[in-house]
Amino acid sequence: AITTAGLTATHIKEAAKYIEEQTSQKPEIGLIMGSGLGVLGDYLENAITIQYHDIPHFPVSTVEGHAGELLIGTLSGRIVILMRGRFHMYEGYGPELTAFPVRVMKALGVKTLLVTNAAGGINADYEAGNLMLISDHINLTGKNPLIGPNDDDLGVRFPDMSEAYSKRLRTIARDIALSQGFTLREGVYVGLLGPSYETPAEIRMLRVLGADAVGMSTVAEVIAARHSGIEVVGISCISNMAAGILDQPLSHAEVMETTERVKSQFLGLVTALIAAM
Ligand code: 6GU
Repeated sequence: AITTAGLTATHIKEAAKYIEEQTSQKPEIGLIMGSGLGVLGDYLENAITIQYHDIPHFPVSTVEGHAGELLIGTLSGRIVILMRGRFHMYEGYGPELTAFPVRVMKALGVKTLLVTNAAGGINADYEAGNLMLISDHINLTGKNPLIGPNDDDLGVRFPDMSEAYSKRLRTIARDIALSQGFTLREGVYVGLLGPSYETPAEIRMLRVLGADAVGMSTVAEVIAARHSGIEVVGISCISNMAAGILDQPLSHAEVMETTERVKSQFLGLVTALIAAM
């Protein structure tokens, strides 16, 4: 069966088979780490590392701050599969390629996916360095990874998105932030294609539409995950305020600096969340 745009169930199986041959560890939790957040991989025990370019049919990412490796190991007593570096549609990949690793995770037995990203703050109450639990998303990429013939073995033609981001896991995340004593924002993530950042007018528009944070990733991965029945939790690191909010230009350097600054809070939240999943 054709899954989407030429990537078939056979491609997924071949990638999963290669990964299974590298380790006997069977991951139950998938982690996709955003810009500057791949540091989590350093905390895995008994980790094995697989380069994306060694995995059959796997795309290879090209952005600074995005390595291209898959790690499998134990974190908080759970076996996880962690993507250090993800695929963005602005790199020229189709949505089906950005979703491919999620399909492979599903084939490996993953039940829960934690997606993280660096995002621009739209909500004027936010500050650079805040962590935001994603309550929901708005897909403004103009793309969808499920376009094309549907593979009924993976999921239904018209997947329900009314609880894209698990209520159960959001409650757990809120409780963790409370007990660890930091402010966890909660809001709507809007996904755009990029790679240019938005104009101030676009940011005002996005605020009216109900968005609290903006980024260039995550939505295609989450759509693919929900299609295949994976439970999802998402955390944005507000790496900078979006255009027009502060009187300063935006830069990828600031994104990297901020993610570095909130590293310990981020690691504390994520490791506790994985333990509680
Ligand atoms: Cl302000 N916009 C977008 N689209 N992505 C971002 C961002 C802003 N800040 C970090 N990533």
